[in-house]
Amino acid sequence: MSEPLVLGIETSCDETAVGIVRGRTLLANVISSSVEQHARFGGVVPEIASRAHLEAMQSVIAQAIKEAKVSLSDIDAFGVTAGPGLIGALLVGTSAASGLSLALDKPLYGVNHLSSHLAVDALGSDVDLEPAIGLLVSGGHSSILKVADLASDVEVLGSTIDDAAGEAFDKIARLLALDFPGGPAIDRLAQAGNPTAIDFPRGLTHANDREEHLYDFSFSGLKTAVSRYLQQTPAAIRADVAASFQEAVVDVLLTKAIAAALAYGCESLILAGGVAANSRLRAQALLRTEEAGIRLRTPPAALCTDNGAMVAALTSLMVQAGQAGSPVGFGADSSSGLERLLWR
Ligand code: KG4
Ligand code: ZN
Repeated sequence: MSEPLVLGIETSCDETAVGIVRGRTLLANVISSSVEQHARFGGVVPEIASRAHLEAMQSVIAQAIKEAKVSLSDIDAFGVTAGPGLIGALLVGTSAASGLSLALDKPLYGVNHLSSHLAVDALGSDVDLEPAIGLLVSGGHSSILKVADLASDVEVLGSTIDDAAGEAFDKIARLLALDFPGGPAIDRLAQAGNPTAIDFPRGLTHANDREEHLYDFSFSGLKTAVSRYLQQTPAAIRADVAASFQEAVVDVLLTKAIAAALAYGCESLILAGGVAANSRLRAQALLRTEEAGIRLRTPPAALCTDNGAMVAALTSLMVQAGQAGSPVGFGADSSSGLERLLWR
């Protein structure tokens, strides 16, 4: 099918999101977030998230159909996040998608949340980037990936050995008494700060880490260093702390991702996931890839955090590659990595 019309559903965390694409063209992207219901708990509460998905699902689908100016019966294939994510939240999405697929007799693709973060970058572009290095940085994951084919072949070169980058942003934000989710709040506060004010540690970048952890990340030492600095410095300038913390994360992410691109002879770097919405990371990525002679590809900031367009984008690539859909009744997997991109 050359230009399939695909509807994608994402419910892995606190966004109930539906996207519609035709081939690589984005037609609709509707998101209903339950983030405000979780804010007072300082993190996402799974049961609240599942309930919010159930409540929002039908209207989000209806809105996306309206925005795309299509009808449900026009859809050629459905896609849904099958993992990783919160299991109850995932099951609301897979159940809704299975119902649509069965009722309309169209194939359903249960797809990987992590690879769909990368695949959203294909929207609006007819250039295939692969082979590329992927830097996937989100609330639950931070990995360097070798992407031979977005729809079928993504290999993990390295990952965080403790906190994910987004998790580090969220934890430091709490120390700075900022709102949840912490990433956007730190991004804003850091604009007024000096990124070189405090020399925070860059985890797993020492010569003796190279052998075992060349492309791995660690952010727990950084978190401890920021916490200690705040305890020992009563007159700390919060904006400088935010900017210097952010700089340490950005520096280590880009140093390792660019090194991987050069080592594997990949001409492109795809920067994706919620933390890829960070303004300093985006600006520095542009500078440093240019210096290294690597092409940077990153989705617009609004498509970096969780959305349905990314699920539709990956599904569309799979349909176009001639891959068959998932069997009826396929399960969701809360802790899957990248060992499978499509549920069989
Ligand atoms: O990809 P995502 O929406 O959800 C997961 O799959 O985890 O990522 C959410 C994470 C959160 O930790 C959030 O704080 C972070 O992305 N984030 C940011 C920014 N926007 C979102 N981190 C840094 N700067 C931002 N502007
Ligand atoms: Zn995500």
